[in-house]
Amino acid sequence: MRLVVAATGASGAIYFQRLLEQVDCAAHEVHVVLSAYARQVIREELGTWTPPAGVHLHGDKTMHVPFVSGSAPFDAMVVVPCSMGTLARIAAGIADTTILRAADVFLKERRKLVVVPRETPWNLIHARNVVTLMEAGALVLPASPSFYSKPANLNELADTVVSRILSQLGLPDPNGFRWCGSGSLGAGGGARDSGGEAGSGSAGNELE
Ligand SMILES: Cc1cc2nc3c(=O)[nH]c(=O)nc-3n(C[C@H](O)[C@H](O)[C@H](O)COP(=O)(O)O)c2cc1C
Repeated sequence: MRLVVAATGASGAIYFQRLLEQVDCAAHEVHVVLSAYARQVIREELGTWTPPAGVHLHGDKTMHVPFVSGSAPFDAMVVVPCSMGTLARIAAGIADTTILRAADVFLKERRKLVVVPRETPWNLIHARNVVTLMEAGALVLPASPSFYSKPANLNELADTVVSRILSQLGLPDPNGFRWCGSGSLGAGGGARDSGGEAGSGSAGNELE
């Protein structure tokens, strides 16, 4: 797979970090771009960050990268975390940075664009921009962690979101949990997924 992973200046650098740790960067061609504010947030939230071996790291002010042209075949792009500023600029068709131009190209080429916004609460402008992106073909995957896997630490909590990103990319999801429909959980990319819907089981789900 040829993949672009962009981080912007929203809170949630851990999602970006954990995603890159779980993508096999030797098996896939992974290009990473950080906005200037992403670098600030990474410093605030992670302290330091070192790109995993094999990753191609690019600045956000270059058009000399293959994925800003529709002529270069790529499979998917993820913006994680995605600030509401970047989300708005993509929705408006602004394409004057590497990240924005790449997102613009992925939309025009009907390629998979996964946007992971992190903001709360939303104003109406945020909501309208999300609708615009969805109408344009992006998959909007809010950074909304879940708790039913009983995450024991921040990495496990972040992985509840990362798992959903990997699933959208069609990549293996070694830390993923799947609701089995009876109050129990399966781990490891759905190997024990019974296909049930959350809340559909009867045993052990009582609220007391
Ligand atoms: C520590 C920190 C946390 C931030 N968290 C968010 C956030 O969760 N969501 C958001 O939309 N913006 C957040 N911002 C503001 C964005 O960084 C700011 O709007 C910036 O212009 C985004 O630029 P970019 O999209 O080019 O990275 C945060 C800024 C800082 C410094």
